[in-house]
Amino acid sequence: MSIIQSVHAREVLDSRGNPTIDVEVRLSDGARGSAMVPSGASTGSHEAVELQDGDPARYHGRGMLRAISRVHDVICPALRGVSPFDQSQVDGMLMELDGTPDKSRLGANSILGTSMATARAAAASLGVPLYRYLSQGSANLLPIPMFNVLNGGRHARGSTDFQEFMVVPMSASTFAEALRAGAEIHNRLLRLIEDRYMYTGVGDEGGFAPSLPSNAHAVEILLQAIQTAGYEPGRDCGIALDAAATELHRRGTYHLAREGIWLTSEELVEYYVDWVEQYPIISIEDGLSEDDWDGWELLYRRLGSKVQLVGDDLYTTNVDRIARGVQTQASNSVLIKPNQIGTLTETLEAIRLTRQAGWSTVMSHRSGETEDTTIADLSVAWETGQIKSGAPCRSERLAKYNRILKIEQEMGADARYAGRDALRHAAV
Ligand code: PGA
Ligand code: ZN
Repeated sequence: MSIIQSVHAREVLDSRGNPTIDVEVRLSDGARGSAMVPSGASTGSHEAVELQDGDPARYHGRGMLRAISRVHDVICPALRGVSPFDQSQVDGMLMELDGTPDKSRLGANSILGTSMATARAAAASLGVPLYRYLSQGSANLLPIPMFNVLNGGRHARGSTDFQEFMVVPMSASTFAEALRAGAEIHNRLLRLIEDRYMYTGVGDEGGFAPSLPSNAHAVEILLQAIQTAGYEPGRDCGIALDAAATELHRRGTYHLAREGIWLTSEELVEYYVDWVEQYPIISIEDGLSEDDWDGWELLYRRLGSKVQLVGDDLYTTNVDRIARGVQTQASNSVLIKPNQIGTLTETLEAIRLTRQAGWSTVMSHRSGETEDTTIADLSVAWETGQIKSGAPCRSERLAKYNRILKIEQEMGADARYAGRDALRHAAV
């Protein structure tokens, strides 16, 4: 059997022009696998640490030279000779080498890059696609996409307070049809914004970033875009929000700057209840801030029976935090971001625990992305049912959607599209 021969890392740039790490694993049989690691902007404080150089003379402190040296000096010598086919052993070794709870010694970026590149090398060695390798050939469920067509918050300053307004094509019967709906709606949305507001920029995730009078205007214009593209809101397409409320939270209250208001947790929950009554909102991510557990429980009591409530900063793909959420009934869904936790094995554990609770999972990109498509394969291999990878626009976002499109074709008649069924916590 083939063994790991070397692990090599290099510095590349992500979609924001910031450095990130590209790790390549080479095996004794000549097979290779490489992976690039994404990077967040509205990061949760409980995430594993992205190791940066901190040297202001290079990339304003964001260089990857330290992370690269961890790969070359610590990870490579330890993994040399190890089997790439035992992912949990490789990941266990990486965790042990690091030895910290937040992966701050080696960096979650060095660790995740190695973890993903190992899986890719193993798949290459066997001559199978990554999704097939990771599922041992059994997976055939394609996720329903959430297209982030309007960007705000930390990803588009000057736009809405809430970070993401996503369109979710529910009536599509294949992934390809869902992608077409997303692209058509995205296209109509641009026309509407240009007609009404003249000019719009684009946010980090490829969605438009117009300067709107209020947050509700974003939902209104999105509903119109859905209609003018020929789809029926609520029937064909739902709306998903990522409020990213940790970013709005100051001294115990939530600041909606667009509207000039400060809300308590209770008031913000009622704000969402109001929106859910008016609009076809099927999913709300990070409706409250990362440590506002009481607020989350209240939100769940008010909306948990009809809306998917997704924890991102709340859980940071961490099983201990997810277990707390399950115990206290804080939500009914978990956002899955491999780089929040640092290894594929831990990511899969987070998915398993979430599923055991009867909750849904959403595989997710980061706002700083690359052409790497690993999360597309993960969403299929682990049957997460849902994926968000930004707007159907900009190649670092489309790389993931296009990859799923290819997988769907490759599977042929075996492919099952998750569609509406994936949204089991939403009253749709
Ligand atoms: P981030 O944003 O990658 O900047 O954290 C994505 C999200 O909040 O879901
Ligand atoms: Zn989020």
